[in-house]
Amino acid sequence: MEKTEVLIIGGGLAGLFTALNIDSNIKITIVVKDSINIANSELAQGGIAAELSKSDDVLIKHIKDTFRAGANLNDALATKTLVYEAGDNIERLIEFGVEFDTDNQGNLLMAQEGGHGTRRILRAGGDATGREIMKALKKRIMEKENINVIENAMAIDLIIKNGICHGATIIDRENNVCDILSAKVVVATGGLGAVYKNTTNPKIATGDGIAMAYRAGAVLHDLEFVQFHPTAFYGDGAGQKFLISEAVRGEGALLLNSEGERFMPKYHELKELAPRDIVSQSIYREMYDTWSDHVYLDIRHQSKEFLMTRFPTIYEKLSQNNIFMEKDLIPVAPVEHFSCGGIMINICGQTTIPNLYACGECAYSGVHGANRLASNSLLECVVFGHRIADDINSSELKIEECELPAHKPTIKHYEFKSVRVEIRDVMEKYVGIVRTKDGLDIAYKIINRHYKNLSKTLVHSHYYYETLNMATTAKLIIEAAMARKESIGCHYRVD
Ligand code: SIN
Repeated sequence: MEKTEVLIIGGGLAGLFTALNIDSNIKITIVVKDSINIANSELAQGGIAAELSKSDDVLIKHIKDTFRAGANLNDALATKTLVYEAGDNIERLIEFGVEFDTDNQGNLLMAQEGGHGTRRILRAGGDATGREIMKALKKRIMEKENINVIENAMAIDLIIKNGICHGATIIDRENNVCDILSAKVVVATGGLGAVYKNTTNPKIATGDGIAMAYRAGAVLHDLEFVQFHPTAFYGDGAGQKFLISEAVRGEGALLLNSEGERFMPKYHELKELAPRDIVSQSIYREMYDTWSDHVYLDIRHQSKEFLMTRFPTIYEKLSQNNIFMEKDLIPVAPVEHFSCGGIMINICGQTTIPNLYACGECAYSGVHGANRLASNSLLECVVFGHRIADDINSSELKIEECELPAHKPTIKHYEFKSVRVEIRDVMEKYVGIVRTKDGLDIAYKIINRHYKNLSKTLVHSHYYYETLNMATTAKLIIEAAMARKESIGCHYRVD
């Protein structure tokens, strides 16, 4: 058993930014499932949406765009907080060493993405915003004496006594299990994309935080709102797909169907820059109507020099596939990208379980409504991460002694491969962009069978918990989708 004052589960932007804002005299342990270099935040291309002006008129426009994208299902206080606290947290990122892209005069460059009425997205390294932010924060984390990072270990369950959280149990890749007692726990485990066959998320995004919080009895919210990114690169095979940032459409790329026809003007007044749910659903419709499994992005009006500077990561990836943005069409298709729902938190980041916080994609703060506005997710990580840190800094941090059961070690390394494959196939087929009652019923039957079988299994390995978390998260998404009968935002029911 180990002890720490604050335990943070997850090493993406939400986890690291929270840690860096907690007072330096507080002992923090960060548990990271893989290496600290593997996190969804690293992959964020487009950027971080933020109005730096203090003018109400300007800020209210960002709030309105967030509500319009979220089909007005957003929480008003959380969204106002998100937008009004953006500027201070961007300054904090800059203090931590993040270098956002600027013009020759040193003014921050702002990009445009779907659903935004104006250019308000800060970026770094052209299209490598997540990577650049994470690079700066990781450097800071390594310099901090009060922060200990444990890599290659996943939290498997929260330690709950009398309804209060007292830490978490972790397991490493050799199936060694250890309890960590702590005064406060922050769940920042990121997304759930790995429950789908095609996703932009890394394969470690198995919904662990959501599943753990569910087992602990925390309230979850809005899990039916799984967002599909309209333009993942088509041609990478199944699994983790490479993203072609929405910022490419922000620089004027058009969407063409397999017949070479532009189609977005017939679906929405904002055309290619409509909110993401609309663009993904429109692409789905076009693929269906043209018997195709992809569409194209066309940015051939921009020069090679511009494209290589503005989108260095995307340009390189595509050229490795013999596609040159200045002269070729880019084949793309929608894939799972982001969970708008999650573990319910209040404005301070507290979940419904005392001493337990959640932050980032695994959390439901209310800012995304039924469909997240592009590039609001990194902003959510920093605004709510900072708020959690403030709450912890002003709390008494007492580590309670707990009687804990002994853990039965396992030497088995079963991968549960067939179960994982079936979960991904079923979610892709029946719980994707378009949903029906019949499809959801079929999915529920299959997934619930896996969930029940896994819940009874006695091989408590690292792989086991990942697979159980996948089945749990998939089941919760389906239950939420079954309960919501109307189409709204990312949840589109054709029946
Ligand atoms: C993108 O660059 O298109 C992704 C940004 C986001 O998911 O907000």
